[in-house]
Amino acid sequence: MEKYYITTPIYYPSANPHIGHTYCTVNTDALARYKRMTGHEVFFLTGTDEHGQKIERYAEKAGCAPQEYADRITDGFKKLWELMDVSNDGFIRTTDKHHMECVQKVFKKLYEQGDIYKSEYEGHYCTQCEAFWTETQLKEAGGVCPDCGRKTELAKEEAYFLRVSKYAPRLIEYIRENPDFIQPVSRANEMLNNFLLPGCEDLCVTRSTFKWGVPVPFDERHVIYVWVDALVNYLSAIGYLTDDDSLYRKFWPADVHIVGKEIIRFHTIIWPIMLMALGLPLPKKIYGHGWLLFDGDKMSKSKGNVVDPFVLVERYGVDAVRYFLLSEFPFGNDGNFDNATLITRINSDLANDLGNLLSRTVAMIGKYFEGKVPENTAPVPEEDEPVVSNAKTLFTRMDKAMDEIHPHIALSEIWKLIAICNKYIDVTAPWVLAKDEAKKARLGTVLYNLAEALRIIAIAVQPFMPNTSPKMFAQLGVKDEALRTWESVKEFGLIPAGTVVTKGEAIFPRIDAKAEMEFLDNMIAEQRKKAAAMKAAEEGTPAPAEHAPAEEKKDDKPLITYDDFAKLDLRVAKVIDCTEVKKSNHLYNLTVELGNEKRTVLSGIRDWVSPSELIGKNVVIVYNLAPRKMCGIESQGMILCASTPGDADVVPLTTMKEIGSGNLIR
Ligand code: MSP
Repeated sequence: MEKYYITTPIYYPSANPHIGHTYCTVNTDALARYKRMTGHEVFFLTGTDEHGQKIERYAEKAGCAPQEYADRITDGFKKLWELMDVSNDGFIRTTDKHHMECVQKVFKKLYEQGDIYKSEYEGHYCTQCEAFWTETQLKEAGGVCPDCGRKTELAKEEAYFLRVSKYAPRLIEYIRENPDFIQPVSRANEMLNNFLLPGCEDLCVTRSTFKWGVPVPFDERHVIYVWVDALVNYLSAIGYLTDDDSLYRKFWPADVHIVGKEIIRFHTIIWPIMLMALGLPLPKKIYGHGWLLFDGDKMSKSKGNVVDPFVLVERYGVDAVRYFLLSEFPFGNDGNFDNATLITRINSDLANDLGNLLSRTVAMIGKYFEGKVPENTAPVPEEDEPVVSNAKTLFTRMDKAMDEIHPHIALSEIWKLIAICNKYIDVTAPWVLAKDEAKKARLGTVLYNLAEALRIIAIAVQPFMPNTSPKMFAQLGVKDEALRTWESVKEFGLIPAGTVVTKGEAIFPRIDAKAEMEFLDNMIAEQRKKAAAMKAAEEGTPAPAEHAPAEEKKDDKPLITYDDFAKLDLRVAKVIDCTEVKKSNHLYNLTVELGNEKRTVLSGIRDWVSPSELIGKNVVIVYNLAPRKMCGIESQGMILCASTPGDADVVPLTTMKEIGSGNLIR
């Protein structure tokens, strides 16, 4: 049996898991289930990454020890994976004793062979991302962390270094010779061009400014850098360097590490170099998936726009949420989560397309053939062929999609078959055939084909919606295990005539779209309000006003003439730098470029936009606004923003296309 080792990132237990983590894990689960179903011996690993200064600080804020904090949040992750029917074979915690020992052994080995050495580090450290950045990287990102846009801290310490520079040329060659290693391909080019080819410095792999980590085994003043600690999880979880390393011997190298695009750099540079130094084979593939945004915005607890998977599952069921996460967003790209699409997809794809196809087929077999799947004796090839040929070849298209790590494409292939079946019902009109006794045999064939196509669909959806398959089999009366296997999707016509179908409850009941939209929108609005109030309390500023209902808005202003409007000098400006104004909780200090001119503009939009979202963008500024001093800095203009009632959301205006800074807005 071919083996298949697949992993998710191990998540930081800094805050409760949200829909973004769920998105990654559920996609990985679908891939793992698919491989199992298609005859592979699978090891599917997930877990939590519990060390580092960030967790230490969260715990401190919560008033408990880091371990206690990590235990609590990790518990939440485990509960969520159980709820989502995630079929992981292992769950690794970086605080597990065997993991910590493995990290120490790896570190010691690399030190003893000279690939880790002691020196001194001075650099810019981002606590949020646990990453050191070079001067150049920081400058290019406008003085903030290139990943998250937050301010970095200058840190200087005696430290140990990994000889990245020694292995980088080999890695460059490897990436070039193995075009499948980093996927999607665009991410491979990004790694080569932005990080590897400009030259890699050796990496600082220890910290001595905090304690919450794996100690360097021969120098306890240092703890091992959280990324080195974390990456080793893929080996420690399968027993590498332990007495029983049978899993390691069976499963390494990993077939694919699924990771979010923001951490692909760690997985495609540091991790392969560590493995090269250890003399181990590299994982076969690193797949960087995109982010789920909410209404176009990055999800974050401080914005209150984080979607809670527990609530969605409680209202719509596990398989509906899994289906939405797996089908709606092309896995390699960023995707936009919005409540309206969720509800529409549940009602149209699940309740209408799939649910109705099953219930109509079972009901018609019940009504016209006493609940027994009829014989297939009256084919009409031109009518039947689309169903038969698509159903028979579905597996080839699914195999291709899943091999390319495109679960959304595999699902869309299944839904194409569902659409073909629904069309087949329209074309053959069984209720018309039923009126003519002479057409009974033809009616039987139509219903046979539908039942058989549904059997194939029930198998095909199993990796994506594991609870739906058994419900479909129960209604179709398919009890024989041999007719539920992946092998059996390759043949059309296996369901025996005479199989007794049973009408059951709707597998996906329709939901009340209006009521659900209201519920979900209110939930997010409440979250946003709470987040804003919490932020205000932390900063000691008054809480933002409650949202005024739209009807009560008194925003209309008196009419103006064109001449009034023409007094405004509005221009396109490009943001080239953005830093926080130290004396303020809300202001950014933006440096904007207007053609050859540079200006300083202050803007109170810190609660809504991060520097990395602003830098490099065109904004619209009021160019002839009288200068005004705030916090000792003169602001030479104002940037324009759109805002929702009560400033729940504030979004800077930008130009639809690149037009060049300095141009006039009329
Ligand atoms: N602990 C590191 C990973 C170490 S792996 C050796 C880490 N943890 S994390 O908690 O920040 O989780 C990051 C991963 O969670 C992302 O890479 C991504 O897979 C997933 N996601 C978190 N938020 C997400 C979205 N909003 N959208 C999609 N995936 C998201 O980085």
